[in-house]
Amino acid sequence: MNIPFFELERVQSLFENTVDFNLTESGFHPFTMNELLSEVEIESLGNLVLGYGQTNGSIPLRIKISKLYNSCDTENVMVTNGSSEANFIACHTLLEKGDEVIMMIPNYMQIWGIAEEMGCITKAWHLIEKNDWVPDMDELRELVSPKTRMIAICNPNNPTGYTLTSEEMKEIVEIAGSVDAWIYCDEVYRGAELNGQTLESFIGMYDKVMVNGGLSKAYALSGLRIGWLVGPKELIADTWAYHDYTSITAGIISNYIAEIALQPVKRMEILTRNRNMLNDNLQSVINWLNHYGDLFEYVPPKAGGMIFIKYNLRINSSELAKWLRLEKSVFILAGDCFGMDSYFRLGIGQQKQYILGGLERIKAALKERFNL
Ligand SMILES: Cc1ncc(COP(=O)(O)O)c(C=O)c1O
Repeated sequence: MNIPFFELERVQSLFENTVDFNLTESGFHPFTMNELLSEVEIESLGNLVLGYGQTNGSIPLRIKISKLYNSCDTENVMVTNGSSEANFIACHTLLEKGDEVIMMIPNYMQIWGIAEEMGCITKAWHLIEKNDWVPDMDELRELVSPKTRMIAICNPNNPTGYTLTSEEMKEIVEIAGSVDAWIYCDEVYRGAELNGQTLESFIGMYDKVMVNGGLSKAYALSGLRIGWLVGPKELIADTWAYHDYTSITAGIISNYIAEIALQPVKRMEILTRNRNMLNDNLQSVINWLNHYGDLFEYVPPKAGGMIFIKYNLRINSSELAKWLRLEKSVFILAGDCFGMDSYFRLGIGQQKQYILGGLERIKAALKERFNL
């Protein structure tokens, strides 16, 4: 097998359903069908024809997605099975062996793994913690070369919750343009901004841009497995060739429910519910962390369903996570999954009582083992 082990996903898949408190989840507490849909909408599901449907995404769904971006229509959109399939297809459409890929780090490591499997040269471009995770633009300028095919960004960023400013986005566009590179931005957390102001997309800022999006994170609908790609029409047509091989189509029930979720009023209701949850939970988590003084260091996230925390304890992050899971049945994501030991990621998008329950367990564990 030639593909690097995707530790972040596998470790979650292995243990997230075996613990009392799973604090690794980076999205929001998911909706039930009854919470999301009206009685009429639920009844209408009974008449849905269970065929393949339109394999690049139903037309009503692609219309709704296209309206989330400047100057796009249905031909700029490909609907995928989650934004993870979107990432996979995007890499295969844009990259070839030997291409250079520059990737914002820390990051959800899927694109890094795919690029390595494809024989690309991967280069890390860092967000700098001591500068509140502001990216180092000089480093990006130094990293790009005529061989750079793609600059891979995650905005809002997983795991830091950092969001790029308009000026930083313009600078990235200018640097990409200087070597004629593509910008691929994972925008799956767009819509989960704590201040309620939806971030600009890279779409429309430069010709060579493709982005993903999806309903798993900001929309709290991960079980639908609806993601998408948005980009230039010819490129989106090319992505279809790969989609025919990977899954043919996202499910027709998911397409239908996604059409409902993206109706303007419903969409705002969903995003508002999640944002309120996020602000409320973040404050509680910060209070809990601050209680420990210098033990924990963090930069409050600007978006997304998580906080990335540095801890001052002499224990490796994977060991810490394993010990908490086995001893206290509470699961946190080790910084090792992002190549950053001495950190852990805590999900803050779940129901507050659940998060507080998990933190109580961690508190008891810290007292027992470290006398804190
Ligand atoms: C940044 C980022 N992109 C993509 C994904 C994949 O999500 P999904 O396939 O559920 O849309 C995740 C999941 O955690 C993520 O954090």
